[in-house]
Amino acid sequence: MKSIACIVLAAGEGTRMKSSLPKVMHPLAGRSMAAHVLAAASSLEPELMCAVIGPHMESVACEVIDVWPEATIVVQSKRLGTGDAVKRTLPALEDFTGAVLVLFGDTPLVTPESLAALQQAVESGIAVAVLGFRAANPTGYGRLITDEGSTLVAIREEADASDSEKRINLCNSGVMAFDGSKLAGFINALDSNNAKGEFYLTDAVAIAHSQGLQMAVVECPENEVLGVNSRAQLAVAEAAIQDRLRAAALDAGATLISPETVFFSHDTKLGRDVVVEPNVVFGPEVHIEDNVRIRAFCHIEGAQIKSRAEIGPYARLRPGTVIGPAAKVGNFVEMKNTDFGGGAKANHLSYVGDAVIGTNTNIGAGVITCNYDGFRKSRTEIGANAFVGSNSSLVAPLKIGEGAYIGSSSVITRDVSAKALALTRSPHKEIAGWAGKRKNKSK
Ligand code: UD1
Ligand code: CA
Repeated sequence: MKSIACIVLAAGEGTRMKSSLPKVMHPLAGRSMAAHVLAAASSLEPELMCAVIGPHMESVACEVIDVWPEATIVVQSKRLGTGDAVKRTLPALEDFTGAVLVLFGDTPLVTPESLAALQQAVESGIAVAVLGFRAANPTGYGRLITDEGSTLVAIREEADASDSEKRINLCNSGVMAFDGSKLAGFINALDSNNAKGEFYLTDAVAIAHSQGLQMAVVECPENEVLGVNSRAQLAVAEAAIQDRLRAAALDAGATLISPETVFFSHDTKLGRDVVVEPNVVFGPEVHIEDNVRIRAFCHIEGAQIKSRAEIGPYARLRPGTVIGPAAKVGNFVEMKNTDFGGGAKANHLSYVGDAVIGTNTNIGAGVITCNYDGFRKSRTEIGANAFVGSNSSLVAPLKIGEGAYIGSSSVITRDVSAKALALTRSPHKEIAGWAGKRKNKSK
């Protein structure tokens, strides 16, 4: 049976990020770089998953366990190089003879397809397979050195490269796959006689070559192996991942009128014939069914939107919100933790939080559920076919029965029975001719 082990290297501090967060914990499309890399690795269903982290990186350890609960976490106490980092995992890999894939925590855009190609190369008898790319600007990367027959013979790090080697633009992405039965031999043969005084994992290639073993390069597009070392590169990686998510949404049958202005989370799910107008931001855990229209300038996170609903423009849906089929949520409406019934409407300027709103109920302009009294949150439940007049305050906990009618500008503090009218507004008073008299007086 074919088997694979994955090692994710993430012991780097990421000093250039100038952050109190470990580098790999910085998010892209709503999840950490570490989680992106682990997710790509998980797609191969590895038998073993190993992460190498630095000292005091508990948050990274938790993130790894969150994505892959059986993962082995190894702490590299001194940052002696990528070769040393892999060496720390050898005890966990003892007796493992399948393919061993090494990934970097700061190279988050790598695709399952490329990883699978590396695995296949090793399974076909290759000792070391390297994911390479043609760099627009190769400065800083390890160069792939090939012989006359274009066979990979070594990887030269930038710091150790000659001028002619520096002109090579075929570069090492950092992602490599090894024949597991030979990995320990390569790693134990590494030394640190180089410009950086580090144990380079990349030297495994020259060692394998000297043993007459076969090597292979799998090439991928440069934007798949963007390394993130700075905030500027984090922004470039975010742009790349957003482009990917937009392309996937279009491919799955959604219309994005202005794709470059729509921002997705890694897990946004859009049904068919969903239309997303310009300038919409999706946070994590949004699921939108078929034929929904999201109008311009909406911010949506942790919400489920059922078919044919219409949201926005300028609506904000927060976690725990479920919008029923064909419901309408209009401009400047905020909802949180609310089950909003099918066909219900809240078209203007409302806050609806911790509520259940029945089907076809109308929430008038400016209605507020007062769900917080300064100490605790309480729920508002409104039955089907009710009508809440504009500018009413619904002081929770509160139940309003089916088909009830709330007069506008009421402050409702007690439950209202089904089909009743409730209103708390002060009585209308009118003094005939008052305004005219007042005017004459002041002349
Ligand atoms: C590495 C490669 C280089 C490649 C480049 C691609 C080596 C020697 N060089 O260089 O050929 O072109 O990536 O981006 O592998 N790490 C540890 N422990 C260590 C050192 C590094 O866990 O002791 C981790 C880092 O957290 C990072 C990864 O390994 O995730 C790469 O380390 P980094 O120092 O960034 O390598 P580069 O110099 O970029
Ligand atoms: Ca790097």
